[in-house]
Amino acid sequence: MSWERSENRQADRLRPHKFQLDFIENPLSSVVIECGKTKVLCTVSLENRVPRFLMGSGQGWLTAEYRMLPGATNTRHSRELMKLSGRTQEIQRLIGRSLRAAIDLKGFGERTITIDADVLQADAGTRTASITGSYVALAHGINKLISAGELKRSPLLETVAAVSVGLIEGEAFLDLDYREDYAADVDLNVVMNGKLELIEIQGTAESNSMTRSQLNAMLDLAEKGIAQLLEAQQQALIIDD
Ligand code: CDP
Repeated sequence: MSWERSENRQADRLRPHKFQLDFIENPLSSVVIECGKTKVLCTVSLENRVPRFLMGSGQGWLTAEYRMLPGATNTRHSRELMKLSGRTQEIQRLIGRSLRAAIDLKGFGERTITIDADVLQADAGTRTASITGSYVALAHGINKLISAGELKRSPLLETVAAVSVGLIEGEAFLDLDYREDYAADVDLNVVMNGKLELIEIQGTAESNSMTRSQLNAMLDLAEKGIAQLLEAQQQALIIDD
């Protein structure tokens, strides 16, 4: 019997997704992204300083922090353990690298952009939702700086979005939920730009290896999903036009 998805979702369908801009007011910008039951608050803050290695260089920096909030999963996680975990370190570096691929670091002076991705509710795909949502928060924040006359032109070079794909019982599925992530032999996280070029792929085959043709099938699904997410990002940013 083949794998049955929740709500009879087809193998090549994303979970319902949406963006809520300006969810909180204090950061430069904020967005809550929902992908099915996964919900992530992505905020963008700007500071007039750069790490020591960039002082005097005339260029800025972009960095990211990721956390799952204690109540994001069905059993509570301690904030301290979450902060120290290798998974947290790996994910926040991935978010930072992905968003640095979107921006010209020389285009906003010696300032630091910090992306904070806080997972409000986790049902798998939190790192990819963080990247997709953070791009919207970043673009929205930059649009605000341009409207306020603080930036003359946008330093954004590219759009960026991400999705997970996986293999369950040898078949490729787009945008896994937690039940699927748990059952999957392969979990692949794919980050692409607006030209559908690859920025990063993270993937491991743990219990069963994958073939090249299965990898190709997963990448095809990821490309299809990311094309839809890129479109949804642009729709969400229409309020800035
Ligand atoms: O969230 P993402 O798929 O990017 O990362 P993962 O490490 O593959 O985790 C998949 C899912 O497992 C998370 O989204 C959570 O739903 C769950 N998880 C959890 O409950 N507790 C953890 N410490 C790690 C993951």
